[in-house]
Amino acid sequence: AAIIAPFKVTAMTIELKTPDDIEKMRAVGALAGQQLEMIEEFIKPGVSTGELDRICHAYTVDVQDAIPAPLNYRGFPKSICTSVNHVVCHGIPSDEKILKDGDIVNIDVTLIKDGFHGDTSKTFCVGKPSILAKRLVSNCKESLYRGIRAVKPGAHLGDIGYAIQTYVEKNRFSIVREYCGHGIGKIFHDDPQVLHYGNAKTGIELKPGMTFTIEPMINAGKPDVRLLRDDWTVVTKDHKLTAQWEHTILVTDSGYEVLTHRSDDTIERCG
Ligand code: MF3
Ligand code: CO
Ligand code: CO
Repeated sequence: AAIIAPFKVTAMTIELKTPDDIEKMRAVGALAGQQLEMIEEFIKPGVSTGELDRICHAYTVDVQDAIPAPLNYRGFPKSICTSVNHVVCHGIPSDEKILKDGDIVNIDVTLIKDGFHGDTSKTFCVGKPSILAKRLVSNCKESLYRGIRAVKPGAHLGDIGYAIQTYVEKNRFSIVREYCGHGIGKIFHDDPQVLHYGNAKTGIELKPGMTFTIEPMINAGKPDVRLLRDDWTVVTKDHKLTAQWEHTILVTDSGYEVLTHRSDDTIERCG
């Protein structure tokens, strides 16, 4: 997630990817999705988030021949983000943080391959989650899918936020405002900012060749968040549960392509 710059005034010419760029975005996106599939079997009670980080790092470097983008990015110390229960995003993996039955954990993977980034995350349930946790996680995932389905040439950025917001708030969950999705390509966090709330037909018009992430952070309680003293970990102010789901998306001539699509996704890869 990128920190929202509320008064950002830029000429905002969004870079359109060439067919060659898109081929590379597809390749790195597929690797990022595969990494989330790979890590699933290790997510169980008793494992530390530090161990999950080591597994992902080794897989990235040794198997996928890619670079873990978070490592040393603006001083981030690890290769993935692991955000447990009330942690909204950018949780730092640690050997002290042991997952227990009933936890929910978001694993956020960003890879670089051939100079391009692929960024994706999902919230996993550890053991048997509460009914509330299950509802929250499935609401978050569905909200991402609704955002994705709003993507097509001629639609506006605000259509994505609108689709997410109406669905989430109808179900009485709340949306984190301080962090957003982002343009992505050779740059990890590029323009435009992709807000997870907003009004239809507002914001820039979507054009084929744009690539950006959509990554709603959905809270069970109030929307307010707080940054911890480590300057990375974002938590809910009320310490209630929060979930996140993220894909990297390409605007195509007819709609969208989910560049980080996985076999367990329940949205169609192209639409
Ligand atoms: N992958 C996160 C995102 O979705 C960003 C992580 S930046 C890091 O934008 F430095 F915390 F890794
Ligand atoms: Co992102
Ligand atoms: Co991410």
